[in-house]
Amino acid sequence: MKIVIASDHAGYRLKLAVIRELIDRRLEFVDVGCNSTDACDYPDYAQRAAGLVASGETDLGLLFCGTGVGMSIAANKLRGIRAVVCSDPFSARSARRHNDANVLCLGERVVGEGLALELLDAFLGAEHEGGRHRRRVDKIIALEQGGRETD
Ligand code: RB5
Repeated sequence: MKIVIASDHAGYRLKLAVIRELIDRRLEFVDVGCNSTDACDYPDYAQRAAGLVASGETDLGLLFCGTGVGMSIAANKLRGIRAVVCSDPFSARSARRHNDANVLCLGERVVGEGLALELLDAFLGAEHEGGRHRRRVDKIIALEQGGRETD
């Protein structure tokens, strides 16, 4: 599994904490910025990271900003991206199991480092369950493609 990771300035420190965890776990990742706490614009980094997920170059994305919200809104503009903002592990796990989410967005101003690592664990440790959940995700994909899917 290959992961892309990115942040803006407001999520930079949390991103570093998560990078340490990814290294500890020997998970393969690519960091596409930013590289400091100097102010920058989160859509630029959401676009870079989500682009790699959308193209299949990476399997999952981890995005960090102040709230996680801006990153998720921007990432979800790319076709094939199902980005979620989570601050509880149940939602992070369910987002993979039910929604086949492929990008997790966390807010440094919302969650502390300990909770962030729990959220990471929940997200990375879960897999899409398929079945009825696949059908529903396929309907999301149809919406994204401008189509209309009926039962
Ligand atoms: C930056 O101040 C902040 O707006 C950004 O990190 C993010 O929280 C936006 O959603």
